[in-house]
Amino acid sequence: MAVLVTGGAGYIGSHVGHALLDRGEQVVVLDNLSTGNRACVGEDAVFVEGDIADDSLVGSLLRHHAIRSVLHFAGSIVVPESVADPLGYYENNVVRSRALIQACVGAGVEHFIFSSTATVYDAEAPQPLAEDERKAPISPYARSKLMTEWMLEDVSRAHPMRHMVLRYFNVAGADPQGRTGQSSPRATHLIKRAAQVALGRVPQLDIFGTDYPTADGTGVRDYIHVADLAAAHLLALDALRAGAPSAVYNCGYGRGLSVRDVISGVERVIGGRLAVLESARRPGDPPVLISDPSRIKRALGWTPRHDDLDEIVRSAIDWERRFNTG
Ligand code: UD1
Repeated sequence: MAVLVTGGAGYIGSHVGHALLDRGEQVVVLDNLSTGNRACVGEDAVFVEGDIADDSLVGSLLRHHAIRSVLHFAGSIVVPESVADPLGYYENNVVRSRALIQACVGAGVEHFIFSSTATVYDAEAPQPLAEDERKAPISPYARSKLMTEWMLEDVSRAHPMRHMVLRYFNVAGADPQGRTGQSSPRATHLIKRAAQVALGRVPQLDIFGTDYPTADGTGVRDYIHVADLAAAHLLALDALRAGAPSAVYNCGYGRGLSVRDVISGVERVIGGRLAVLESARRPGDPPVLISDPSRIKRALGWTPRHDDLDEIVRSAIDWERRFNTG
């Protein structure tokens, strides 16, 4: 009985795929390789290149491998791209997720885990953000994620399939064993960019905004090591298998680091200075996003093991060194 991982060649999906294989699960990865990297998929996984909206392909995979649990990572994640192409984002993230969910319901899948985002929350709400805090997604990307959350909520009322939604804060770092990492050539994440600058592949790091109402004027985020995030998925799967009801969980450490804190961390790790350029705010960036992770700790027993900026940065640089995305 295998587990289906959609988007399993992508950044987070590939880490979860390795974590599942590491504990002896059978893994089927479905990825259209639009942004994913085949080399990041574990060798012991069954890899299928294809689309989550291909009903006959998904239906036959679910039946052939007797799949009862699906972890759904496939989707588009770049906020400015979603603003420029909202219909593309609704197609990719909502319409195709709907097709996948329908195929899952039709094939009797029992458990569904969905990658959501901290950007569904109202960024003006008091921090840290608990799961029940008010929602105000502003980008098509964030709205597409919240729409899919709602679809799952409605589906779980009408059908036996139970789900868990994991709302990621700022995921960073790479597999401690070096098997996978962030390999999207167009990645815009702060720690990924900082690693590229540290290796001299990008001339300098832009600091987007130094006039935020934060202690040092730069944006504050809750950076979580991708290995701890992968562990959260395994716990969510275990809970669903043990009969837990559908639920939503924040995934973050509950502490904020500014852009300048991250730069200092990178400088500590490389033992040198990082070339930076103070720039204007990036449109749409909220000043602060920090999670309240108490629910996932309490309900799933999630315990962070890599809550250390230097470790996150070191793993990101190690991966970048190994995987030259330019
Ligand atoms: C990220 C995720 C988003 C997720 C959110 C949750 C992506 C592409 N974005 O967005 O999906 O919902 O976390 O919190 O996965 N910065 C710089 N210079 C840079 C890059 C970033 O100063 O070159 C700053 C940004 O202004 C921000 C912080 O660093 O203050 C983090 O930015 P970034 O890593 O791009 O993530 P988010 O925009 O927070």
